[in-house]
Amino acid sequence: MQIQVNLKDNPYKVFVDEPYFLELNTKVALLSNPKILGLHLNSLLKRIKCEELFIISVKDGEEYKNLASIEEILNQMFNSKLDRKSLLISFGGGVISDMGGFAASIYQRGIDFINIPTTLLACVDAAVGGKTGVNNHFGKNLIGSFYQPKAVYCQSEFLRTLNERELKAGLAEFIKMAIMFDENLLDFIENIDETTFLNANCKDEIFTQIISKSVALKARVVENDEKEAGLRMLLNYGHTFAHIIENQTKYKIYLHGEAVAIGMNMANSLALNLGLIDEKECKRVENILKKFKLPTTYKIKNLNEFYEAFFLDKKTHHQKINFILPHKLGQGIIKNDISKDMILKSLGQFQ
Ligand code: GLY
Repeated sequence: MQIQVNLKDNPYKVFVDEPYFLELNTKVALLSNPKILGLHLNSLLKRIKCEELFIISVKDGEEYKNLASIEEILNQMFNSKLDRKSLLISFGGGVISDMGGFAASIYQRGIDFINIPTTLLACVDAAVGGKTGVNNHFGKNLIGSFYQPKAVYCQSEFLRTLNERELKAGLAEFIKMAIMFDENLLDFIENIDETTFLNANCKDEIFTQIISKSVALKARVVENDEKEAGLRMLLNYGHTFAHIIENQTKYKIYLHGEAVAIGMNMANSLALNLGLIDEKECKRVENILKKFKLPTTYKIKNLNEFYEAFFLDKKTHHQKINFILPHKLGQGIIKNDISKDMILKSLGQFQ
């Protein structure tokens, strides 16, 4: 299947489980990590022909998604004498696509890049839409750019080596989209048989369905609002909380999707306290998260510290925190007028 992302200046296609061969008349830097290269490099190389290929392998993990790694990537690109016509391929999960896109956006003021995601999370979300960047001491993804790939190639075969935890974490981002945009998707997710989802022999078809539904939805959102002025903010549902949790736990305890699952549950508590959703809807989401054994709770040690961290969120403007909440299931809303008391009361339920 091919899904077009119809951006006026940067249109591109996302290929989902389509055979492809990349004939590239240029130098290519292939950015990945040792684990992915060990598992999938040979298979990928059968699909690429180019002038020269340079492999850039960086450490695996969100804790390495920082400016030091970007510097290392850029140095290797300069050492390989890549020029403005060269191409960068990000081959990995969300950490790799975020860093690859960012490095491509600043190398000699910008070179082309494509994403070949190897995690479910990157296929359903991170690799599509052009958000690139790194974390720093102050928080997650606070440094970066909007820079669209030239194409994205999602292949279920690369997902076969993921472990259960990684698969479920990827599903969390899909659940997020369903709650924000489409209740029918939530029905679809509820009907996914957990064993089928995790079973190596029959999971490809379910992956193709999940990825294509998610990418189709995300493409429409990004076309509408590439730079996150409004609608795209809804894709941050759960993330306002998740980014703080990930930063507080130094990116070592939770996979991003797991933190998002907790964040969605926290956002739902707030939405419930505000009367935006009812107990039944709140429970429905919690049950879906629990069905896929995603975490739903986190012990907040210091309420005020957690609250203050909201002010570093990219969605906080003029000291107003923009919370992304479900209005009903399948429809999101942005609220920036919630009182501090109400926020603390909701956070207090996680102490
Ligand atoms: N991951 C959220 C977005 O791309 O907007």
